[in-house]
Amino acid sequence: MKIIETATAFRQEWANVNESAKLSLGLVPTMGFLHEGHTSLVKKSVSQNDVTAATIFINPTQFGENEDYEDYPRDMRSDLEILDHEGVDLVFVPSLDEMYPEGFETFIDVGSVASRLEGEYRPGHFRGVATVVCKLLSICRPDRAYFGQKDAQQCAVITALNKDLSLGSEIIVGDTVRSADGLALSSRNAYLSNRERGKALSISRGLFAARELWQSGEKAAEKLKSVVVDEILTGDPDISVQIDYVSVSDRSSFIEVGLVEDSGNAIILVAAEVGTTRLIDNVLLV
Ligand code: PAF
Repeated sequence: MKIIETATAFRQEWANVNESAKLSLGLVPTMGFLHEGHTSLVKKSVSQNDVTAATIFINPTQFGENEDYEDYPRDMRSDLEILDHEGVDLVFVPSLDEMYPEGFETFIDVGSVASRLEGEYRPGHFRGVATVVCKLLSICRPDRAYFGQKDAQQCAVITALNKDLSLGSEIIVGDTVRSADGLALSSRNAYLSNRERGKALSISRGLFAARELWQSGEKAAEKLKSVVVDEILTGDPDISVQIDYVSVSDRSSFIEVGLVEDSGNAIILVAAEVGTTRLIDNVLLV
């Protein structure tokens, strides 16, 4: 496994590897502190491509002023071990200066899909995500790039970005990976105390209960949302929970729907702060 620190070196290395044959490249962009959600994407890429590259870069432009950029969990040594073990061929670990050199001032202005939900609660977040992903796709030029369904709206933003700017990769969305008790894996789960983690389980419990209700015939979004809210608000009263949103939306446009028909194409999304940790999760109604 080679570790590369500059865009030029990455291009050069890839050109060397790809000299004699057209090998397919899969890319798994990450911010590190890897868990099984990431490794499931790596496994998918390894199985679908000749060469798999991963990136590790904590992207400052997607964090708001009062967010956790400085505290974001980091463990480069373990991340590299994990990627090596999973069969990753190239790891791109650019410095801040490599990605945002002095004078950098071009940003991607993402469309309406980025304006709702996460876009409303984290102004500027998707502008930062779209900008860094655009750069990573431009540097690495992968045939396929892999993102996790837990960040459903991010996947929609990146799919739109890739299409609108003709970046030429296939965007592949991997299923949310959960621990046995249902909690969606996230690097930010590391912030949770045991009791907070217990409380956080109410998010997936609520989503699963709402999905079951829909499967048994309930179509009204308000009813489905209230099941999720009720579940989140019950349980350990000593752990604070602040719900940013519970939304039943179209899974492509992220526009709220009133009724979820049998054909589905909808998604229930939650964002909530458990203690001081902001978590997001979703389930598809398909
Ligand atoms: O999902 C993430 O880890 C990040 O948002 C991404 C896609 C790597 C961009 O920084």
